[in-house]
Parts: sequence; C-alpha cells; structure tokens
Amino acid sequence: MTSNIINFIREDRIIEIKNPDPNETLLNYIRTKLKKTGTKEGCAEGGCGACTVVLGELKNNEINYRAINSCITLLPTLQGKQLIIVEDLISKDGSLHPVQEAMVSCHGSQCGFCTPGFVMALFSMFKQNSNFKDNLIKDSIAGNLCRCTGYQPIIKAAKSLKGKNKNDYFSTNKANTINLLKKINNKSIKIYNKDKKYFAPIYVQDLKKIIKKNPNALFLSGGTDLSLNITKERKDINSIIYMNSIRELNFIKNNNAYIEVGATTPLIDFEYYIKKYYPDFTKILKRYGSPQIRNVGTIAGNIATASPIGDCLPLLLSLNAQIVLQDLKKTKILFLDSFFINYRKTKLKKGQFIHSIRIPLFEKNIFKAYKVSKRFDDDISSVCAAFNLEIIKNKIEVIRIAYGGMAAIPKRARFCEKVLLNSFINDETIHKAKEALEKDFKPINDMRASGLYRMEVAKNLLEKCCVEIKQKKPIGMYV
Ligand SMILES: Cc1cc2nc3c(=O)[nH]c(=O)nc-3n(C[C@H](O)[C@H](O)[C@H](O)COP(=O)(O)OP(=O)(O)OC[C@H]3O[C@@H](n4cnc5c(N)ncnc54)[C@H](O)[C@@H]3O)c2cc1C
Ligand code: FES
Ligand code: FES
Repeated sequence: MTSNIINFIREDRIIEIKNPDPNETLLNYIRTKLKKTGTKEGCAEGGCGACTVVLGELKNNEINYRAINSCITLLPTLQGKQLIIVEDLISKDGSLHPVQEAMVSCHGSQCGFCTPGFVMALFSMFKQNSNFKDNLIKDSIAGNLCRCTGYQPIIKAAKSLKGKNKNDYFSTNKANTINLLKKINNKSIKIYNKDKKYFAPIYVQDLKKIIKKNPNALFLSGGTDLSLNITKERKDINSIIYMNSIRELNFIKNNNAYIEVGATTPLIDFEYYIKKYYPDFTKILKRYGSPQIRNVGTIAGNIATASPIGDCLPLLLSLNAQIVLQDLKKTKILFLDSFFINYRKTKLKKGQFIHSIRIPLFEKNIFKAYKVSKRFDDDISSVCAAFNLEIIKNKIEVIRIAYGGMAAIPKRARFCEKVLLNSFINDETIHKAKEALEKDFKPINDMRASGLYRMEVAKNLLEKCCVEIKQKKPIGMYV
C-alpha cells in the first residue's frame, strides 16, 4: 500500500499527517505544530543534543528505543514509529519518570536548556539496558552538551538509576504500543507537496521503479549529512527517496569470507557486530558522532558522502572492502579503493545506489585504527588512520594502510606500504616508512588542523602502530 499520509504513535494514539512538507524537521513539528517546547534547538546540526527525542521501533516483536536528534530528522521519516518527547515522560498523575527524578535529586540541571536532551538520552539508555555501567553512561550522553551544570551531577543521576524499578508507563503499556505499531507498519509513502516530492519505498523493486521515474531525486538514509543542507544551508531538497524504510537493505551477513552490511543498517548495529572481528573498528565508531548520529546514520551514507574525513572510509580501505552498487538492471561490485575520484566525487552514477558493503575477514591479520580529533567525543577527525597487516615469521607479508584527513579523498598510503612490505619492523624501517608518507600525502591547512600537524600525527600513528605490534604480539594473530 502506498499513501501520502504518514502515521506514527504518540501518547497511545495513531497520529496522522496528510501530505507533510518533506523538508520540515521533526523538531519544527514538535515545537510549532504540537506546541510542545520542552525539546530545544541548540545547534540545528546534530551536534549538541538539546533536541534529543526517542523513537520506538518494532524489532523482533519488541520495541527498540533509540535517541535521535530531531533537528536533523525529516518529519515524514516518522512513518511507522513511536515518538516519545520529554513531555511524554511525566505520567498522567503528574509524577516524574525515574530518569527525571534522578536528575532532580542529583541536581543535574541549572539553566535547564540542555536538560530535556539529557533526559531523553538517558531515557533511551534506561529502556534499552539493564546494567548502567560507567562506560555505557558515558557513551549514552556523548552527544549531549551542557554549558553550566557540568557533567558530574548528570553522571551521578545516571548512576543512581542502577537498581531502580524499570517498570515505567512505557513497559506497562508495551503490548498496546506493539499492536499500534503493527497497524501502521509496512506502508510505503509517496508525498507530493507543492514542488517537493518524497518517496519512502519498503522494497528494493519499488525503489528501482521510483528511481526510474525520478532520476534526480536524492537518497536519504540517516540524514546526518544530507539534512544539514536544509537546516544549516537553508536550501530546499525538492525530491527525496528515503532509503531507511527498506528493511531488505537492513542486514548484516557473514559467510566467513566477508561480512556484508546492508545499506540501511544503522552504524550502531554494525558497531556491536564488528567488535568480535575488528575491535578497533568498534573503538573508532564509539567516537563517531554520538549515539543519536549512529542510531540513524549508515556506512552507505558515509561512503556516498565521500568526505575526506569520513571515519569508516580509511578503515574500510585498509580492510580492502568492496561496495555492491545496483541500478535498474545490474549489480556491480567495486573495490572501495577505486570508488573515490576527487573531493566528494565518486564513481556512483545517476540511478545507481549502494546496496551493501563487503568487508573481508582475514585469517591472521592485525588490524589497528586510530582517530585524532580536537575533542574526544562527537568530533570530526583531524586525522584517522587504519593499518591492516599480516606478519609471518616477523616479516610483513601483506600490508594495507589508509588515512583520512590527509588528502582530498580518503586514501591508501602506497609509498609507505611499499617500504614496509617484506620488511621486518625495526627502527630503520619505521623511519623510512614515516618518510615515505611525505610522498603519499600533502595535507592541507584548515580549521581542524594545519598540514604540518596532520603530517606529524600521521607519522606518529604509524610509529605507534609499529611499536604496539612489536611490544605485544596478539596470540595466534601472527607467527
Ligand atoms: C553531529 C554530527 C557528527 C558527525 N560525526 C561524524 C564522525 O565522527 N565521523 C564521520 O565520519 N562522520 C560524521 N558525521 C557525518 C555523517 O554522520 C556521516 O557522513 C554519515 O555516515 C552519513 O550517513 P547517513 O546515513 O546519515 O547519510 P545521509 O545524510 O542520509 O546521506 C549522505 C549522502 O549519501 C547519499 N546516500 C545515502 N544512502 C545512499 C545509498 N544507499 N546509495 C547511494 N547514496 C546514498 C545521500 O544521497 C547523501 O548524498 C557527523 C554528522 C553530524 C551531523
Ligand atoms: S539542536 Fe543541537 S543537536 Fe539538534
Ligand atoms: S543546565 Fe545549562 S546548559 Fe546544561
């Protein structure tokens, strides 16, 4: 069924919006149409967390609660979901939710501007987890900024939730919410609003038909890059195809030779999955934006954006990943290494979309990745580096090194690799390999770092990787 009416659940009711403006943000809708002003606007670009709300979505007959930034979420993407805003946490008798009570009793709020965002980020933590360890608390609020209270009282509030009764209004009412979500599930959306069009297909075959008729439409996945054209650059996007409604493309498969990640799989799901295979990939993703960003953002979006500082890209390049592209008729598989042409230019052709990404599994490799940014959490890389090596009898037999932030595109360090290949890791080789990086890259100065700093960091990360390998041979990883 295709409709121009979007349906979502709020306050135990199915809400209906006919033909919404496809460029309206969820934050704007909440504040100006629902007239609920608890949710705040700080930065309008996903960076401060003041606008955090929680979406409930059906997953394996359970509700999956995810914090998102409503300032960069487009209203029609609410289709089929439950919306929970800060006002919804207070029960009908006026009593506060355990998360709100904890913030009050631990003095977690001063001016209060950031507070609804923190409450919602902690609410999603509270709903999704049973054990609130320190790391989980830190991760859960990494996307929320507070300028006056300071973080300690907020962390104390989060810690005080340990052992609290987890039965809240939302769990008591779960069966009803699941029933309502099922009623509005599985509907594709087609909106024509003045000169704007929005499509949200639920099957790949329908996606292809829509692409055929609308070859200039832009793909929207998590919107953590694309939506900023609307919120920051104040531009209209006239024709949008929302990809994340296609469940067929939300998968992670493993055939022991490679892991395949579907284009609409949220980064957060991939972050948990990949830890077993490449722990450093998870380490980098933990510092990728914030949970709000990773709850919706995708690897496919990161690749298509082709930013020189896209964090997945050097990691995927060093792992020799491939991307599966599809158009109306064909499937094409490309090495990611050949995909980036120039600054934000790729080989993606009109009508072609990223279907999935294949990440090889190596038997005896060492994979290391590092991110250097001005701020530890929720910041874009100045330099990101990834190293993938196979070492046999102390000799480097296979090596792939890639950097982000060092050139107009994320790029392999071929000269450096050449020096290290078939070599033993010793001071002389490390020195030569560091020098070779100067042939590989001529980094630029910008607001994040100077070219000189970037080069120094790139060399030091290479040395760090080599020293770590020399100092600690991971058991079974190389002989
Ligand atoms: C606050 C904030 C923090 C961030 N932090 C980081 C960070 O630490 N590291 C980092 O690397 N990035 C970061 N980003 C950038 C952004 O999150 C990434 O680029 C993200 O991966 C984009 O994915 P998306 O699914 O949101 O893409 P979208 O914004 O939906 O789309 C991005 C581009 O990809 C295209 N596209 C999307 N899906 C497909 C597809 N299946 N096929 C073809 N084209 C497609 C779109 O048309 C668009 O051009 C941050 C962004 C914000 C707002
Ligand atoms: S307003 Fe800052 S993240 Fe949305
Ligand atoms: S309480 Fe003022 S910004 Fe956090």
